[in-house]
Amino acid sequence: MRWWLLPLVAACPDCPAHVELLQRSLTLRKASAPSLSFLEKCSGWDCLKEYVSTDDGAFDWHVTAKVISGPGWKGSVLEMTSQRWLPNFVTPDTWNHTLVVITPSNVTQDLCLLYAALGYYGSVNASSTSVSSSDEDVRAAADIAVAARRHTAVLFNVPAEYLALKKPGQVPPQPLVEDGSLSASWASFKDSHGALAPILLELPMAKAAIKAMDVIGQFLKIQSFVLMGTSKRGNLCWNTASVDSRVRGIVSIARPLNLRAVLHRTQKELGGFPVAAKPYFEKGLLGNYLDSATGQSFLNITDPYFYFPRVSSISKFVINAGNDDFFVPDNTKEWWQAVPGPKWMLTVPNSKHIVGGAQVRELAPMISAFLQADLQLPTVTWSVEEDGAIVARAARDGVKPQVRLWQADSCDSHRMDFRFVSAKAEVCPCGHATSEGCENQGVEWRSTHLSSDGAWRVRPNVTEGHWTAFFLSFQWPGGAKLSTEVSVVPTQLPFHCYASCEGIV
Ligand SMILES: *[C@@H]1O[C@H](CO)[C@@H](O)[C@H](O)[C@H]1NC(C)=O
Ligand SMILES: *[C@@H]1O[C@H](CO)[C@@H](O)[C@H](O)[C@H]1NC(C)=O
Ligand SMILES: *[C@@H]1O[C@H](CO)[C@@H](O)[C@H](O)[C@H]1NC(C)=O
Ligand SMILES: *[C@@H]1O[C@H](CO)[C@@H](O)[C@H](O)[C@H]1NC(C)=O
Ligand SMILES: *[C@@H]1O[C@H](CO)[C@@H](O)[C@H](O)[C@H]1NC(C)=O
Repeated sequence: MRWWLLPLVAACPDCPAHVELLQRSLTLRKASAPSLSFLEKCSGWDCLKEYVSTDDGAFDWHVTAKVISGPGWKGSVLEMTSQRWLPNFVTPDTWNHTLVVITPSNVTQDLCLLYAALGYYGSVNASSTSVSSSDEDVRAAADIAVAARRHTAVLFNVPAEYLALKKPGQVPPQPLVEDGSLSASWASFKDSHGALAPILLELPMAKAAIKAMDVIGQFLKIQSFVLMGTSKRGNLCWNTASVDSRVRGIVSIARPLNLRAVLHRTQKELGGFPVAAKPYFEKGLLGNYLDSATGQSFLNITDPYFYFPRVSSISKFVINAGNDDFFVPDNTKEWWQAVPGPKWMLTVPNSKHIVGGAQVRELAPMISAFLQADLQLPTVTWSVEEDGAIVARAARDGVKPQVRLWQADSCDSHRMDFRFVSAKAEVCPCGHATSEGCENQGVEWRSTHLSSDGAWRVRPNVTEGHWTAFFLSFQWPGGAKLSTEVSVVPTQLPFHCYASCEGIV
């Protein structure tokens, strides 16, 4: 089975030494598991599909003796191994997860919401049995379970945490978590000039969610799922839905699609990249890289924007933060219209980047409403006109929603910036310096009531010397809450730079 090695090495003649190590790792693995033929030549979505469909023999799960509970719910603690990923190149190569399966006392047995949460339970140093009913992500899932009368489950340790990617001269390799490991994985793909798709962390992350659905399918006898996650695990929802027909809906939080266009817009609004994205910036993964052929092949695999038809049948509930540390509030202009329906949006005012825990718990009523309505929320449609005005309509059948206009002013007239925290600077024009950077004041969202007549055209007056961002929100009795996307006025973007504004702000 060694004949296939040639094209791999040939594809990457001037790659750095660690990429050779990775190639060797793939060789060894391949020799013992010939079914991994996906490593040869794949492109785009096929890489994802082939990776998740390949049996690496590691899948295993069992129920532990631990049961946790709270008012109106009971949670079984399960342990699961989803896969082996790149043995000999990454330690640990085994992805172990804690899976908490929550059953409310009054339950409809039709679907399960699977929440891929930020939490290390199942990793090398956070045991499954240390998870408790007071964990905020468990509480968020329990709140949803009780309110929606549906099973929910929390999957931890996706991606596997403390991953160490071997590189020559680094002994032992540095154990990484979260943006550290995701950016390292993207950088390895870049270094291989796109030859080594399996190094992309999105692939094993999607497989972990799929294996969790396998476990829940056997444990609860349910084959219908809604996936939920924030940020990189929000992208996981789309990736997984595109390859697994058991997914009927997603709740994707704080993660835009069409990353390249969103980043270009970010440069034009901020004059650089947000400091929160520093691990990616430092590795040269933003900006021009995404315009290269390797960058495009990276996007073709990881960015659902490039395979929307594969998610056209599912219900999509997308939630964005109004003051996200990574993503400008009107990033949706670069991708929302292209998303195939059914789809709904909610913008959360006065919220930094949403990572999980208490932040998701606050969203539980809206997410429960989505589940209870069988993944169908009221219809809100809108368009953004040339002058930035939002023209919106909300379905009039049934109960009228309460409507609000939300607006926020940018920090100053220099950047179109609505973040609470920006990069460390000599002078903080909109607030004061802390160890984190500049803490900005005055970017808070405020709201006013609008009449509930079913159709609106809104363009707020601009506060002199600022940009004004705004959107409309709609709230129905029973918890359903939706919004339009954000528009910013005046519409002129402050920076014309492209490659020239590649700094951190
Ligand atoms: C369980 O929920 C259903 C609605 O799904 C409701 O009609 C019923 O009264 C509830 N049962 C109990 C015991 O609360
Ligand atoms: C994963 O779980 C298996 C079985 O419990 C264990 O043998 C192995 O050491 C674990 N690996 C990691 C990296 O936690
Ligand atoms: C967990 O393990 C990793 C590597 O094995 C180590 O670097 C890290 O400090 C540990 N974290 C905690 C909280 O113990
Ligand atoms: C990306 O995908 C598109 C079609 O989906 C294809 O035309 C293009 O060649 C791909 N680009 C790369 C670099 O793989
Ligand atoms: C904008 O200002 C004008 C004049 O002060 C006022 O009449 C109007 O109501 C304001 N519009 C909005 C949307 O606040």
